[in-house]
Amino acid sequence: MSIAYLNGEYLPLEEARISPLDRGFLFGDGIYEVIPYYNGKSVGLMPHINRMINGLSIIEIKNSHTADEWKTLLDDLIAKNSGLGENLGVYVHVSRGTDTKRNHAYPENVEPTIFCFAFGIKSPEPADRAKVHQYSLISTEDLRWQRCHIKSTALLGNVIHYQEGHSSGNDEALLYNAKGELTEGSSCNAFIVKDGVIITPIQDNQILPGITRRIIIDSIKADGSLKLEERTVTMDEVRNADEVWVTSSSKEIAPVTKLDGKPVGNGEVGEIWEKAFNIYTAAKFDY
Ligand code: PDD
Repeated sequence: MSIAYLNGEYLPLEEARISPLDRGFLFGDGIYEVIPYYNGKSVGLMPHINRMINGLSIIEIKNSHTADEWKTLLDDLIAKNSGLGENLGVYVHVSRGTDTKRNHAYPENVEPTIFCFAFGIKSPEPADRAKVHQYSLISTEDLRWQRCHIKSTALLGNVIHYQEGHSSGNDEALLYNAKGELTEGSSCNAFIVKDGVIITPIQDNQILPGITRRIIIDSIKADGSLKLEERTVTMDEVRNADEVWVTSSSKEIAPVTKLDGKPVGNGEVGEIWEKAFNIYTAAKFDY
């Protein structure tokens, strides 16, 4: 049985109830996180919590928990759900709260709704080019909003793009802006590799500051054996890349071998992917 946390109380997930006047339901007015735990050990827990606190502050939702209090709450929830499996994800959702009417303006004196639940996730993939799941993507113009750096629960723009990929038999949709520059995937960040150099778009309002992206960049820089650049990436570069990867807390580093029906590079999982995945795997529990 899955135990959820709702506004200070632990209860069975199927008993958790919120009001239809919750601003999260009416407006997608909230911030969320998804954090992986493998055998009870989290990856990027404090960076996830800090990104959430920052998002709440940007959209002016009251946050009455310190980062350490959030950590205790989430660790406790994972401990209470150990029966669900060895590898768990935790979903945290803070909405602006329940109003008494539907009004676009932020209401005053409303308590945020805090909802968290845990769920089973896949074990990490093997760092083996012959065995890892290979991703197939479509590419499409990024028609979400202009504040993609905020991890907002208003995900309809992302969901429409994800569905475009899914309904055409692919794993994801890779997005580009009106200038034909790569942004990210509909639920993940993106990297390319050309001539041994790993390249990823710079962090601005067009992409989410992914925790997995951050761990990859920092661990690869600390390791020092691979070259990595953060800069503008054109879709021409993506189409001529030797490797393409998409990254997230649930996908870790996923090798993309097909884009828009054509092979990426030689159509096989690349050797830089394997090196980067090994570096990431060795470092991920340090974050
Ligand atoms: N999504 N970009 C977008 C648009 C995302 O939704 C996500 C994560 C990422 C990767 O961020 P991180 O490495 O911090 O997980 C990038 C989560 C997993 C989700 O919506 O389920």
